[in-house]
Amino acid sequence: MTKVVVCGALGRMGSTIGRLVNEAPDLDLVGGVDVRAGDLFGAKVVEAARMSALLAEKKPDVVIDFTVAAAAVQNVKTAAQHGAALVVGTTGFSPEQRVEMSKAIEGHVPAVISSNYSIGVNIFWQLLKQAARMLPGYDIEVLEAHHRYKKDAPSGTAKTILQILEEEVGQREKLYGREGMRERGSEIGVHVIRGGDIVGDHAVIFAGNFETIQLSHRAYDRSVFAQGALMATRWVVGKKPGIYGMNSVLGLA
Ligand SMILES: NC(=O)c1ccc[n+]([C@@H]2O[C@H](COP(=O)([O-])OP(=O)(O)OC[C@H]3O[C@@H](n4cnc5c(N)ncnc54)[C@H](O)[C@@H]3O)[C@@H](O)[C@H]2O)c1
Repeated sequence: MTKVVVCGALGRMGSTIGRLVNEAPDLDLVGGVDVRAGDLFGAKVVEAARMSALLAEKKPDVVIDFTVAAAAVQNVKTAAQHGAALVVGTTGFSPEQRVEMSKAIEGHVPAVISSNYSIGVNIFWQLLKQAARMLPGYDIEVLEAHHRYKKDAPSGTAKTILQILEEEVGQREKLYGREGMRERGSEIGVHVIRGGDIVGDHAVIFAGNFETIQLSHRAYDRSVFAQGALMATRWVVGKKPGIYGMNSVLGLA
């Protein structure tokens, strides 16, 4: 049995992951961490300040983190100190926070870090790569929509989309929203919507003369991210220390 601790246990993603870990016969939900104490499907949830004590007591194989960027950096350091493998789904990291996390991880523990654990989005990223390569000269616009509670914008998934596109078409100016007078150049337009309970929509439009190609992905339930996080949890145990993406988990790397 793989022992799992969930950070952000009382949040939207943490509680969904907790439910699926609890239902999985090969995974053992041994605890949770959040800003306040509580319960996660019968497992004890401790306050963030007590995370180290919880890991010392429960000795999890994997710590899953879906919290907020600043908290996740700290949780990654604590998990690595205790030798636990990591699955990090939190988004909104600054470049400095990414460096801090990789220092804690490299040479110490294996970690999967992905801005999106849905299998569909990981396939969508591969298709985008191919489309961007095959459509040089087409204008590119990126759109994303999420629920009213999502704070970081654009989404981590949209940032990954931009990174993938630029690997193919080269560095471009990013224009976040359009307003006023300006000619269309080679920039990539990025458009963000926040509202209601939208789980996660992403689209990329490639616009040429007399035709457009649009690739899009829509998540209908956050269990798609949770299922992918569980796949990563099973995969990461026993891997060499270092940072892996979901493409490695899915064999797409
Ligand atoms: N990678 C993916 O596939 C994916 C999918 C969905 C959401 N996300 C990301 O996951 C994160 C969480 O999303 P959510 O919708 O569950 O948010 P949420 O606000 O519902 O949950 C976050 C939880 O983290 C807790 N938290 C804050 N500080 C903490 C700390 N120091 N230690 C432990 N817990 C702490 C909060 O109290 C809250 O319960 C966001 O960054 C979001 O963008 C990633």
